[in-house]
Amino acid sequence: MGITYFENERIFKLDTKNTSYVIGIVDKEGFVGHAYYGKKLGEDALAYLMRIYESFGTPETNARDRLSFYDAFPMEYPTHGIGDFRESAIRVEDANGHFANKLTYRSHEIFKGKKKLAGLPATWCEKDEDCETLELTLEDKEAKLAVVLSYSVFNDVDAVVRHARVINESDKTVYVTKAMSASFDIDNNEFDKIVLYGSWARERYIDRTPVSYGIQMSRSMRGEGGHQEHAFTALLEKNADQNKGEVYGMDLIYSGNFRTLQERNQFDNIRMMTGINPDDFKWELTAGADFQTPEAVLVYSNEGIGGMSRCFHDLYRNHLIRGYYRDKKRPILINNWEATYFNFDTEKLLAIARQAAPLGIEMLVMDDGWFGNRFDDNRALGDWEVNEEKLQGGLKHLVDEVNKLGLKFGIWFEPEMISPESKLYEEHPDWAFTVPGRVPGLARNQLVLDISREEVADYIFEKMAKVLHSANIEYVKWDMNRPLADIASAALPKERQGEIFHRYVLGVYRMQERLITEFPNLLLENCSGGGARFDAGMLYYSPQIWCSDDTDAIERLTIQEGTALIYPLSAMGAHVSDCPNHTVGRTTPFATRGAVALAGTFGYELDITKISEDDRNQIPQQTAMYHKYNDLVRTGDYYRMASYRENHYYDAYMVVSKDKKEALATYVCVKRRPNPRSRGLKFLGLDPEKTYRIEGEDRTYLGSTLMNAGIYIEEPWGDFQAKLFHIVEA
Ligand code: GLA
Repeated sequence: MGITYFENERIFKLDTKNTSYVIGIVDKEGFVGHAYYGKKLGEDALAYLMRIYESFGTPETNARDRLSFYDAFPMEYPTHGIGDFRESAIRVEDANGHFANKLTYRSHEIFKGKKKLAGLPATWCEKDEDCETLELTLEDKEAKLAVVLSYSVFNDVDAVVRHARVINESDKTVYVTKAMSASFDIDNNEFDKIVLYGSWARERYIDRTPVSYGIQMSRSMRGEGGHQEHAFTALLEKNADQNKGEVYGMDLIYSGNFRTLQERNQFDNIRMMTGINPDDFKWELTAGADFQTPEAVLVYSNEGIGGMSRCFHDLYRNHLIRGYYRDKKRPILINNWEATYFNFDTEKLLAIARQAAPLGIEMLVMDDGWFGNRFDDNRALGDWEVNEEKLQGGLKHLVDEVNKLGLKFGIWFEPEMISPESKLYEEHPDWAFTVPGRVPGLARNQLVLDISREEVADYIFEKMAKVLHSANIEYVKWDMNRPLADIASAALPKERQGEIFHRYVLGVYRMQERLITEFPNLLLENCSGGGARFDAGMLYYSPQIWCSDDTDAIERLTIQEGTALIYPLSAMGAHVSDCPNHTVGRTTPFATRGAVALAGTFGYELDITKISEDDRNQIPQQTAMYHKYNDLVRTGDYYRMASYRENHYYDAYMVVSKDKKEALATYVCVKRRPNPRSRGLKFLGLDPEKTYRIEGEDRTYLGSTLMNAGIYIEEPWGDFQAKLFHIVEA
């Protein structure tokens, strides 16, 4: 790992263990271009990669064709309005309304360690020796603008993270209308692209298609990432699969409106880009002020999609997630949402806790409906005071009783929202987003609080903190159940309304930072109508995120496959729920529901007092399995053997410990075939030289046998059957 500047060549080389990212400076004007990203390069003269002698040359050698140079050169941070007609990374309007910018090299600095991003989530390193940073300052001499591009590499992960900071060095106010986090250009090599798409209860489905000409974009305008599209994208060779081929992954550490795109152009280059969505974005920069973009993550793997996933997992586990629970087993929780919805009281919750405790469940989470007049989802958001009609004896009494049973206690909040029917709305109708003169659209009968305003965010935070201080509460589920629309802020002048979306996200981050600072041992789980806020930004504050409101074990195979494409299993909120499943009406074996939830944080979401004796009797064994396997699942390397999404019959994945001494493979036969022979399954990621035993079998196998020849699994009778294989070094 290391960053080197080769002065003679004017080349920066950013090395991770297995990859290199190369940036070059060309022409006497100092254009900064992208030279290479991929498998690691040695110490060599690399300036030729800038291809400046091709076609039109640079302005220094061919001033009459300057625009042709701009439109072909792989600018490291392409600007708007001067002749690079591809997607630009930055657009700044000056005091006269002009918006053409030219950025060239000014200076650079290379240092050990990594600076924090003010107010934004970002990767970090424990010790300065663990990572290195390049700050490359570009300038627009005429517009008096500087842009600092920051890149960091880590010694243990093949990832490059980068962001930009735009500084107004003029004496006039300017407006940033676009400032992307990362852009890089690459020659098309018959690439496919992967994006994630979905809907409520169908989050993060994988979509792989060829990259076609023009721009293909994923985006959000919802004020959060949303269920529908995702900031992540990957470029991959046509023949790349889970285990082989070149893959370039790009993700954004951000929880608001994003734009991620691929643009294939006339020369068959592809420009990849990600950042805050420039639509409805306009940021005022007074003289001397700066704007900092969120951080983007780039991962290159020549070990296929699986190699890319494992790299994202390591980066997010080791350099993004923080806090008390980062490296700890999470308590097995039981959540009352699917058990009771709004219909509960102290006695009902205690009845659940009493049954749960002896079976190995470790925490009761009280979901929506405990506050104000919240008898259904039409009212009371914002009134964060305990409803003692429901919780007779008060919250402390309930929590104490739950604690006496040996369970921890957790609680649900939806802090960013306000119901028109609430005391808070009566007192502060102007705190909700509304465009003056227009009736705002409702979703789930609720409006969104303008938490870009500090006084609004502080008020809600203090209400939450009061509840959390009032009893021994050890977990918070932070929910967000509608997107933003009808955005206008009473606190900002008209020229600054374009700041609201981003300021809103900064408000969420500020509140969550306060929460985990004031309650350092709290386990925070983010959630948004299921999994609409499963993003890298949220992972900085909460080590786990609710994956989806769809808890059906079979639907979860696809949702968890897409989620695990980037996010570690330690972060995936996954529960065993009751059947027929509340979202799809499907009935699956209790054991299968347990096996699938084991690939996440693991917990229950059902009325334990009502499920069958048979199901209940399986819980002690499931909770014991969680304790047996969770260290491995949380910290190991993830490999995907088969995808039900692709083959329509079965799903198979495994987690291998870093030392390769232990692995857990999960096989789910979704649909039994008629008249089948046994199915061959080849394990992945083991040590070919090691001798292993599959728990429950008498014999041993060489790792090479298990990986190259595999084993044969008898097809189970009936659909939806799961089988776990615990593989340990003999
Ligand atoms: C969202 C969440 C659910 C539950 C409900 C409560 O839909 O995803 O898990 O908390 O809100 O209203």
